[in-house]
Amino acid sequence: MVKLDVVHSANAALVQSQPLVAVFFGGTGGIGSYTLRALANAEAKSGGKGVRAYVVGRKPQAAEEILSACRKICPQGQFRFVQADDLSLIQGVDKVCAEIIELEEKEGQDARIDYLMLSQGGAIFLPRKDTKEGIDVTMSLLYYSRMRVILRLLPLLLKSNLPPRVVSVYAAGMEEKLFPDDLSLRDLKRYNYNQARSHMVYMHTLFMEALEQQNAGKIGLVHIFPGLVLGPGFQNPELPSWFRFIWRFIFVPLFGKMLTVPTEESGARMLSLASPRYAPKGGADFKKDEGIGGLATGTDGTPGSGVYALSWEGESNIKLKAYEKFNKDEMRKKVYDHTMNAFEVTAQGGVFTE
Ligand SMILES: NC(=O)c1ccc[n+]([C@@H]2O[C@H](COP(=O)([O-])OP(=O)(O)OC[C@H]3O[C@@H](n4cnc5c(N)ncnc54)[C@H](OP(=O)(O)O)[C@@H]3O)[C@@H](O)[C@H]2O)c1
Repeated sequence: MVKLDVVHSANAALVQSQPLVAVFFGGTGGIGSYTLRALANAEAKSGGKGVRAYVVGRKPQAAEEILSACRKICPQGQFRFVQADDLSLIQGVDKVCAEIIELEEKEGQDARIDYLMLSQGGAIFLPRKDTKEGIDVTMSLLYYSRMRVILRLLPLLLKSNLPPRVVSVYAAGMEEKLFPDDLSLRDLKRYNYNQARSHMVYMHTLFMEALEQQNAGKIGLVHIFPGLVLGPGFQNPELPSWFRFIWRFIFVPLFGKMLTVPTEESGARMLSLASPRYAPKGGADFKKDEGIGGLATGTDGTPGSGVYALSWEGESNIKLKAYEKFNKDEMRKKVYDHTMNAFEVTAQGGVFTE
């Protein structure tokens, strides 16, 4: 477990190293907003060199609350809301990314993204429901839309010399069954939330590895299970009512305090994933931050491989054995091609049916 004081010193070193440009998809609530706040706190407390942050979500009021809190904590920072209509639509993702690129390019030579967090979508345990683009809503918010954001913002990420970091907050380590011939899980006999989660976790690892191979040593990609973090997401009216009942009246009263990660700690831990411990392949620079310990183990089982699947404590939780059940190179290509096909079809206004 990465200790909390190490997390805080990594964050102090991060903000002292250079001005930061950070983008938070899903930053209007929950873990995205806690991470944004952690960044504002680190900037203010540790003499940061400046921050430019973009927060993406649907609700302007929620955005205003978190942005005004951050402006109070860190008046010298620039905090900006970019409103999304619906990030479960790939075209909705493209629209928001185009807006961020346009805003950032106004910075001229300085345009870049150093840290990209993806935490959009909180409603789980829903039955399969396709978007008008033909992708299951849950799988889109938690996987497809996130990979699309990375691809669209990649040119700006590659301009960072942090080196850049992408953090997708979801369910790393929860690989179970994989149906390679039905990656979209269109067969309703197979579809349930746990099965969809398993597919999304495999696909996170494999798609991120494909991106790493294409941009070797230039970007660090992380997906992480954040632990239980009690935020407003658990009151989301989109959640099934049985889940909200069990959660509110049974789980939280009985286990809430024992099992949860405090919101402030969660935000600080997510921000610390920008440290050299999770560097791109061959890209660690421990001179910037000597307190964070050695390189984390990557998804190929070796230290510092550039793609990391992590537990909430910042340690590798990749299920290596799950990936031994198939030819990993072939499966990586299959997942990559499937995902790129989904993007090609939907970007042209078509309906994805694969
Ligand atoms: N919290 C936990 O204990 C926990 C545990 C394990 C895994 N996770 C995973 O971690 C991620 C973040 O969790 P969280 O608790 O921070 O979730 P959350 O509080 O529900 O926040 C989700 C964010 O996504 C945005 N969002 C949701 N649907 C959207 C849509 N259709 N279009 C645009 N934006 C949308 C919300 O913004 P608006 O409301 O402004 O639209 C909000 O900012 C989720 O994927 C969750 O499954 C969380």
